Amino acid sequence: MINEEIERRRTFGIISHPDAGKTTLTEKLLLFGGAIQSAGAVKSNKIKMHARSDWMEIEKQRGISVATSVMGFDYNKYKINILDTPGHQDFAEDTYRTLTAVDSVIMVIDCVKGVETQTEKLMEVCTMRKTPVISFINKMDREGRDPFELLDEIETKLNINVRPLSWPIGIGKSFKGVYNLFTESLILFEAKKKEIEEGVVIKDLSDERLDKLIGKSAADQLRSDVELIDGVYPPFSKEEYQVRDIVPVFFGSAVNNFGVKELLDCFVEIAPTPLARETDDFKIEPAQKDFSGFIFKIHANMDPRHRNRIAFLRVCSGKFNRGNNYLHSRTKKSMRFSNATAFMAQDRETIDEAWPGDIVGLYDTGNLKIGDTLSDKDIGTFKGIPSFSPEIFKEVINKDAMKTKQLEKGLSQLMEEGLAQLFSFELGNKKVVGTVGILQFEVIQYRLKHEYGATANFVSTNLYKACWISSKDPQKLKSFISSKSRHIAKDKDGKLVFMAESKAWLGMVMDNFPDIEFHFTSEF
Ligand code: G4P
Repeated sequence: MINEEIERRRTFGIISHPDAGKTTLTEKLLLFGGAIQSAGAVKSNKIKMHARSDWMEIEKQRGISVATSVMGFDYNKYKINILDTPGHQDFAEDTYRTLTAVDSVIMVIDCVKGVETQTEKLMEVCTMRKTPVISFINKMDREGRDPFELLDEIETKLNINVRPLSWPIGIGKSFKGVYNLFTESLILFEAKKKEIEEGVVIKDLSDERLDKLIGKSAADQLRSDVELIDGVYPPFSKEEYQVRDIVPVFFGSAVNNFGVKELLDCFVEIAPTPLARETDDFKIEPAQKDFSGFIFKIHANMDPRHRNRIAFLRVCSGKFNRGNNYLHSRTKKSMRFSNATAFMAQDRETIDEAWPGDIVGLYDTGNLKIGDTLSDKDIGTFKGIPSFSPEIFKEVINKDAMKTKQLEKGLSQLMEEGLAQLFSFELGNKKVVGTVGILQFEVIQYRLKHEYGATANFVSTNLYKACWISSKDPQKLKSFISSKSRHIAKDKDGKLVFMAESKAWLGMVMDNFPDIEFHFTSEF
């Protein structure tokens, strides 16, 4: 039973630079799964979510979505879980964490703009984690760049090897369709078409039907393109894709619902099933009997009147049963969740059980943190949910001494949600909040005020990086800490962090203290 459930699951994230078409593609995928009935539903759902909670007003005004949501649906025999990620780069940390909960990724690229900055950053995380990636080159109905040139750019900028699995016939106004190299069939383009037709199977490109269908010159062009592809790119291998040695590429137009079905049909066939995951001491295979999972996201205050939070749990092994008691690894306490939800498209519904690869929403009143493990047996903590050094640091200044407690509580809860990182200095009780983008400070300030009644200002500091420190020699670490005490802080878990003021200075300190190890993520 468990093996069957694992076999049919595909849990993945869609990543892109904002505006490349991630939302549109997600929506079309949901339409195929019958999870939504009409186009526009995903976007309008986002807007409703904004309206529901006030603090999101900030993001709404800026026209971006920060909510990472989960959409599950059935497609043929498969159960698909899409983990949506915020496109805005200020929320990159949220996206990085979501990527720890997926088994593969679809990367959307705009054929006019090519590889953009956010795509590069996100791919670095995928590379670090060796996550298998399929690329979808979108907006082929626009006058985009030459496909070979795009593939070259993807290979050089993202440092990966690609293999096209579909090939466009023309582009922009002359876009006629794609030839699906995976199934060896031709799919003709028609803007905004509703019905998806099966492609015409043409195994041999010298087939005269090709000339009839797309015209002689386009057919000849396709023949020579495909010959070139077979000459230049290695043959496709599912194994190589699954270990991230090769990135298959599809072309299409999400808004026109073109090329999406080809992508989905190939995806379910080749994408990995829920993978084994490692804890500090064990390798946890999904099919093992004992349940285990970890929290990768906490979404707080969906309704500001109740301070409830939803913790997103990725099931790693065994079967999750609502109402069972599970061990909370950090506190060693037993916890029971009678209120668990599954995310099916836009709706949340109470579920009784979930399988590896599934995401479960657990209602929480403040006991869970990102990275926490829940399991039948004590297996320690799952690896691979690190904090990264933030890029912007600001000192927290309490503006209302009467509300100090509220400020502390608010800050600590917002940090547990993973909105930003808090560094508490050893000396002087100074607190510094670190983020990836500037937008979080506004969100934190707003939420502190509206949800906790605390007023805080954020003052710029001249910090450059937070480096987690360790040493094989405890004595050396101790003397380093005392000589640099003004620059030593603790992170949310009490880990020691060296707060460097500039790149040059950090380099000097690293040279002067060769026995101290400096780490740029919290997991080492
Ligand atoms: P994102 O989530 O990656 O930020 O992108 P999103 O799907 O919101 O798409 C960004 C814009 O690109 C949208 O236009 C969308 O309609 C358009 N788009 C998506 N796929 C295609 C495509 O295949 N071809 C063309 N030509 N456009 C595409 P918008 O004007 O910003 O929004 P909307 O009013 O159309 O919804």
